[in-house]
Amino acid sequence: MSHDAIENLSHEDRAFAPSAEFAAQANATAALYDEAAVDRLAFWDKQARELQWETPWHTTLDWSKAPFATWFDGGKLNVAVNCVDRHVAAGHGDQVAYHFEGEPGDTRDITYSELLVEVSKAANALESLGVKAGDRVAIYLPMIPEAAVAMLACARIGAVHSVIFGGFSAEALRSRIDDAQAVLVITCDGGNRKGKPMALKPAVDEAVLQTPTVKDVLVVRRTGQDVEWTERDIWWHDLVDAQPETHEAQAFDAEHPLFILYTSGTTGKPKGILHTTGGYLTQVTYTHRNVFDLKPDTDVYWCTADIGWVTGHSYVVYGPLANRATSLMYEGTPDSPHNGRWWELVEKYRVSILYTAPTAIRTFMKWGEDIPARFDMSSLRVLGSVGEPINPEAWMWYRRVIGGDRCPIVDTWWQTETGAIMISPLPGVTATKPGSAMGALPGICAEVVDDEAHPVGNGGGGYLVLTEPWPSMLRGIWGENDRYVETYWSRWKGLYFAGDGAKLDDDGAIWLLGRVDDVMNISGHRISTTEVESALVSHPVVAEAAVVGAADDTTGQGIVAFVILREGVEPGDHIVADLRNHVAHEIGPIAKPRQILVVPELPKTRSGKIMRRLLRDIAENRDIGDTTTLADPTIMALIGTGLTTNPGTED
Ligand code: PRX
Repeated sequence: MSHDAIENLSHEDRAFAPSAEFAAQANATAALYDEAAVDRLAFWDKQARELQWETPWHTTLDWSKAPFATWFDGGKLNVAVNCVDRHVAAGHGDQVAYHFEGEPGDTRDITYSELLVEVSKAANALESLGVKAGDRVAIYLPMIPEAAVAMLACARIGAVHSVIFGGFSAEALRSRIDDAQAVLVITCDGGNRKGKPMALKPAVDEAVLQTPTVKDVLVVRRTGQDVEWTERDIWWHDLVDAQPETHEAQAFDAEHPLFILYTSGTTGKPKGILHTTGGYLTQVTYTHRNVFDLKPDTDVYWCTADIGWVTGHSYVVYGPLANRATSLMYEGTPDSPHNGRWWELVEKYRVSILYTAPTAIRTFMKWGEDIPARFDMSSLRVLGSVGEPINPEAWMWYRRVIGGDRCPIVDTWWQTETGAIMISPLPGVTATKPGSAMGALPGICAEVVDDEAHPVGNGGGGYLVLTEPWPSMLRGIWGENDRYVETYWSRWKGLYFAGDGAKLDDDGAIWLLGRVDDVMNISGHRISTTEVESALVSHPVVAEAAVVGAADDTTGQGIVAFVILREGVEPGDHIVADLRNHVAHEIGPIAKPRQILVVPELPKTRSGKIMRRLLRDIAENRDIGDTTTLADPTIMALIGTGLTTNPGTED
């Protein structure tokens, strides 16, 4: 029996060092690690000085009230000024901030000068409605430029935005508006999704019936579809377009709240994760510049996340704008109107940095590599991944098919709570291993520990913890200080526990193993679902896999796998038998699935995370639980069908 908290089963020998050309031009060099190691707080001071502060801070970090941190105390700055005004003042007003591409193919380029005018007008509009610094504003919009403008307008006047993903229901919206006691909702008639207008306003109409704090609803016209209208509603174009084009921005304290973002938990009341101003902007700017190697004068950067998720906050809006990036913003889905839409956009805009999620990559693998092959993607030079562990096979596919074997891949680990990237390679420094997030960034301190909080050491598996505070850390859960302490800081004294399992390989590289709630216990061995999933996806017929532990009389839990086959592969018993042997061969007989079900789809949350709870229900033959946070609730019926036609193999 091993003493590891989680078994370390798989092994990876491949490593890809950056090319000499890439390393020579990279923003970040190995010196960054040394600099941070010598004096961590001086290092963060230096990063913060990249921003424009109206008043400098006197104390870099006050951790005396841990786990409540104060960063850059005494400092004052305005986030919108840092993201927009200062670039215009420096002569970059004509540079495009966003190339916007709507799903129907409508386009709009917004320069930094234009963005300044839009944000100033919107800030004036919010003030005309009586919105003040500290007030909460709910934003419920699709991926359109007004989403970024609305966020920046709030930041400009010190109002706290709470962006709620446009796919959430009226009830999810109501509970979030209510929790934050928002005074204003910014929404639109609808967005375009899969070739059709998708209405947003009806959910707002329903939600605000029960949220008395909301005084006004500001409505952007996007699709032109019919909307119900009440006296609470104001058209964005009526109010905002009539405003003065300049707005005098005031600086706010470094710890002034910037936004609340509710984490889409699959169980329990959502947590309103609170982020503040100076530390957050410092770390998103630093990570965006160094992890993606952003060159503001030449790169075209595309982060495919929706602004409803933290990735959309930190790496569609704040990080890129603070670094004066030219970004692509796309409204729709990757399959509208055809499966090559993303690659068509890469070709059209000459995208050079692409940041997306493993779930998207595996979907493209399933669709087949002939689709991206039709487009010229030679402009790409850096690829990023975020949101869940990326299996080595998906990593290799991303590198070869999308990156033409030449682009460094940065697998970035972080969370809504951490605000910015924490663990990632540096693209010009790190020799990356397929599937590993490699190591903590300079300035960040992470460890993998066992049940007693002892470091597991190289070759061991356990729990990922952060051992020192970081500038963009959450400052609490909105209105629930005790829950903040209890959720993140109570398992081991002085350590932030992220909820993720991880292992260190023999070289000390970090491999994320998924949420520890998902770890299976097979005959006393704690096995991560991620490792078994990766082993399955490494078989050429498998596009995607989800693994759960189901109750088992003999072994405690048994491994049940759900797999999606690649396009054109016919399911059958021989495939199931093959896959079981393949897993045993890749990571050991202990990890051989008890049962493998071939399914057409997997249940996922809107942010692309697999809902293992529902799969466990199927695996244990329970009634299927609540599916309201599923991206597509009909999938459970599809999987049910898969179950009866393909019972898998048991022995
Ligand atoms: O389990 C980890 C996984 O996503 C969780 C955070 O989810 P969320 O707050 O929605 O933020 C997602 C975008 C930052 C983490 O606790 N996760 C995120 N990135 C990775 C990851 N797991 C493995 N590798 C990653 N690169």
